[in-house]
Amino acid sequence: MSKHTVITIQAMRDNNETITMLTAYDYPTAKKVNDAGIDMILVGDSCAMVIHGHPNTLTATMDMMVLHCAAVARACDRTMVIADMPFGSFQYSIEDTMKNAARFITEAKVDGVKFEATHNHIAKTKAVVEMGIACVGHVGLHPQAVGALGGLKAQGRNIDSARKVVSEALALQDAGVFAIIFEAVPAKLSDYVTRKLDIPTISIGGGPQCSGQLLVTPDVLGLYDTFTPSFAKQYVNVGQIMTDTFSQYAREVKEGVFPGKEHSYGMSDEVLETIMQEFGEA
Ligand code: KIV
Repeated sequence: MSKHTVITIQAMRDNNETITMLTAYDYPTAKKVNDAGIDMILVGDSCAMVIHGHPNTLTATMDMMVLHCAAVARACDRTMVIADMPFGSFQYSIEDTMKNAARFITEAKVDGVKFEATHNHIAKTKAVVEMGIACVGHVGLHPQAVGALGGLKAQGRNIDSARKVVSEALALQDAGVFAIIFEAVPAKLSDYVTRKLDIPTISIGGGPQCSGQLLVTPDVLGLYDTFTPSFAKQYVNVGQIMTDTFSQYAREVKEGVFPGKEHSYGMSDEVLETIMQEFGEA
């Protein structure tokens, strides 16, 4: 199967086929996600937390994101790869936003970009779309606004907040994004907006009626337990498997079980005898 594009993703939405999306930040994980047939990857700025161990996403930089995006893009021949634009990469000028979006395309070779655009960033969104870059919007919880929001909290639960979600989604669609991520938004609200929009909606804590579903891969694998949002689902505890494996390795090394003969290189006695003659007994 060839690589997903804005056209195939829109066709899935139009045919009521649910879109699957996961985050990835490195080559081996992205390869498994691609091989599993997941439709889209987000190289999220969640990278700052789940890979680099920072307390929030604000410390992700352009250089950090470009490096992770390039590794992920190299692994994907089927899955569409979207780069998350980090804090500070789109908040200043239109020109900065365009240059940073272009870096993801030319240096990392991803298929599109996403940013946490509010009403203040609609002109920037349009400018990126007009450059010919596939662009994803993001409404509801904007983790980059954690300071102003007072925490990573669900959005759209009161009238003002719900109005913001709906009006931003409509404005982003008008600006030309090809899909919108709904993060931590009541299911009823995303259902309403999904039916109002003509483009796919992708839920991460946005309920089951969106056109697609997204999860943060380390949450899925049980690899990150510093902060787990209530919408996350852990499918397997790879973290525990890793700890058990590393303990077994340590035990085998200390008990002399590893390395075995099969893990060591051989050498003729003649070579060793010559060396001992030259350098003396050990
Ligand atoms: O960085 C990220 O992983 C994201 C998703 C949570 C939408 O932005």
